[in-house]
Amino acid sequence: MTRRAATATAANAAGLDIEAIRRDFPILESTVHGHPLVYLDNAATGQKPRATIDAVNGFYRTTNANIHRGVHHLSIEATRRYEDARGAVQRFLGAGRPEEIVFVRGATEAINLVAATWGRANVGRGDEVLVSQMEHHSNIVPWQMLCEQTGASLRVIPITDRGELDMEAFEGLLTDRTKIVACVHVSNSLGTINPVEEIIARAHDRGALVLLDGAQAAPHLPVDVKTLGCDFYAIAGHKIFGPSGIGALYARHDLLEAMPPYQGGGEMILTVSFEKTTYNKVPHKFEAGTPNIAGAVGLGATIEYLERVGMERITAYEHTLLEHATGVLAEVPGLTLIGTAPAKAAVLSFTLDGVHPHDIGTILDQQGIAVRTGHHCTQPVMDRFGIPATARASLAFYNTTDEIDALARGLHTVREVFG
Ligand code: ALA
Repeated sequence: MTRRAATATAANAAGLDIEAIRRDFPILESTVHGHPLVYLDNAATGQKPRATIDAVNGFYRTTNANIHRGVHHLSIEATRRYEDARGAVQRFLGAGRPEEIVFVRGATEAINLVAATWGRANVGRGDEVLVSQMEHHSNIVPWQMLCEQTGASLRVIPITDRGELDMEAFEGLLTDRTKIVACVHVSNSLGTINPVEEIIARAHDRGALVLLDGAQAAPHLPVDVKTLGCDFYAIAGHKIFGPSGIGALYARHDLLEAMPPYQGGGEMILTVSFEKTTYNKVPHKFEAGTPNIAGAVGLGATIEYLERVGMERITAYEHTLLEHATGVLAEVPGLTLIGTAPAKAAVLSFTLDGVHPHDIGTILDQQGIAVRTGHHCTQPVMDRFGIPATARASLAFYNTTDEIDALARGLHTVREVFG
């Protein structure tokens, strides 16, 4: 079978027309250093479909006004579009009601919001916060800051050689002092899909809440927070092919009601006097100031686009891409995959004997191939595997087996250059 036929077969099996999908993403027509762009840095940020670009552009051209503040036509229309976008995020995450969705700048801000509000109200001296060794820095540092402020302790679930959570160790670390388990759904540097249902069940049994960092799960898997039963779920718009600077926090309604506000300012209040301020209802209590309105509208359009493509189909197609990529990378001499869990999303981190990852990235770039190199904001993962950095190819549903083969050829070239 030819390579192009391989993509077509995989895509057909998943029910996707990849050539048509690629035409939806204008940037994929670019050339870089005289080569067609092969964009394999999707875990850093996803490319944007025309539906998203047009929605942001169209909003500024036809609808721009501030929201929740005006009685004039444009303000009412802008408010409607912003709140429709909240409804789209609610559908995308399977939340029970739109009020459970708080717009934030991204997954980082979502986690900081929970640590700063729920955390300060509920975590005290002697309590424990449980994170894993495979967390992104954004799901470590806010909790470390909370622990420093409150006298609580940060505990860490170790990971195995394959890059999976050590679930036995997790069980041992869960105690009556554990207030929250903050865990990544899909690892950005290993690709591991964590057994989040089991994590939630065990944590809830011990009376602990669960926050899932879904930044890397949402581009690859259907997510349903109600079925999962998690307490908090964080996503970043730009990683699901939407605009940057917009993301969402899902939080159970009763938790949001009880949580103190995050930032103070306009929109989050009902009344203000120098003696006392009363706060707006949720979710507005957590959205101080003028938000990224066009970003939210763009995110809503992105979600509608993804709904048309179908997240189940995306998952199925990417699985075939991952299998193909795992096979061709195994043929590159001296290449070691970091992260070999059986349950993986389409993320391939690797090292190449005798070659620094930055050199891999630079040589691939000369061939138009974009991968990320470095610690991927997961330094504890690098420490766990005793390496300073990896090169990482992270795939999306618009990638093809041809592009993966271009990566493999590029890596054979790197191998030749370094001997
Ligand atoms: N967290 C993003 C990544 O993994 C930036 O590349």
